[in-house]
Parts: sequence; structure tokens; C-alpha cells
Amino acid sequence: MLWRTGARLLALLFAGVGPAAAYEPRINYMLQCMGCHTPDGSGEPGRVPSVKTTLVPFATSAAGRRYLVQVPGASQSTLSDAELAALLNWMIENLSAAKPDRFTHFTAAEVASFRRTPLVEVRATRERLLRSSTQWSKER
Ligand code: HEC
Repeated sequence: MLWRTGARLLALLFAGVGPAAAYEPRINYMLQCMGCHTPDGSGEPGRVPSVKTTLVPFATSAAGRRYLVQVPGASQSTLSDAELAALLNWMIENLSAAKPDRFTHFTAAEVASFRRTPLVEVRATRERLLRSSTQWSKER
């Protein structure tokens, strides 16, 4: 099984050699994000926080959506705005512990509107969002 996945990945890598290589979100996640976020998004305690329960609540507020795009791992990736939008949508749908019943998909335009503004105080912003999303789930 594992070698099959490996062989498929290699084939994809070689097929993708060239300037206009565009990968599907799952592959972009494997290539650019999984090293830190781990295959299921649970991260690494003390270094990379789990995104399994944060993506859905964050994606429901304007401040949360801005954070998801501006966080360094996302904003500073080499992906295009459209690829990053598709990847964030994929992460929300595939890594969340509870599947979102409804959420507004990111578009390239929304990603572009937030991405170039650097996020200062990443950790503090995350903490603030976590507090307000707890509030959000209580009020719901
Ligand atoms: C070098 C390790 C690393 C890589 C690579 C990485 N991230 Fe992250 N990511 C983090 C850390 C650490 C955080 C927590 C916020 C912070 O301190 O930057 C985070 C937070 C996030 C968040 C916000 C979710 C939350 O709960 O805070 C998103 C969305 C995200 N990353 C997306 C991505 C995407 C998309 C990629 C690949 C294109 C990626 N990351 C690659 C380390 C990484």
C-alpha cells in the first residue's frame, strides 16, 4: 500500500516538472504543509498546534478568515492565491474533527485581499480568536 502511494507521488512529481505545475490541494498539502501539520492536521505538541478544531470556527468570522490566510505558513507559501484558497477549503473539509455543515468557501479574490498584509503577533491573534470562538460555540 505504502509503496503504491509513494510510486504515485513520484509519478506525480515527475509529471509536474515544468513551470506551470499545478497540483490538487491534497498534494499541495502533502508537499508544503504536512511536514509541520502532520497528515491529519493534529500537529506537534508545543510546536505546531492542531488545526482539527480551529479551522471551522475560524472560517465563520471575518477576523478568523483573515487569520487563516495571513498565518505565515499559508500566506508565505509559494502557492497562487487560487491554489491557497482551494487548499484552505480542502483543509477545512478534510482535517476538521467535525465536518463543517456549512461554510463559505475561500476564493482567490478573498485570499488576495488579505494575503499581502503581514500578520503581526500571530500567537496573540490566534489566542484571541480561540477565546471568541469558544464564546461563539457557547452562544450558538
Ligand atoms: C514550518 C512549519 C509549518 C509549515 C510548513 C506550515 N505551517 Fe501552518 N502553522 C504552523 C504553526 C506553528 C501554526 C500556528 C500559528 C503560528 O505560530 O504560525 C500554523 C497555523 C496554520 C493555520 C491556522 C490554524 C490555526 O489553528 O492556527 C493555517 C490555516 C495554516 N497553518 C495553514 C498552513 C498551510 C496551508 C501550509 C502549507 C502551504 C502550512 N500551514 C505550512 C506551522 C507550519
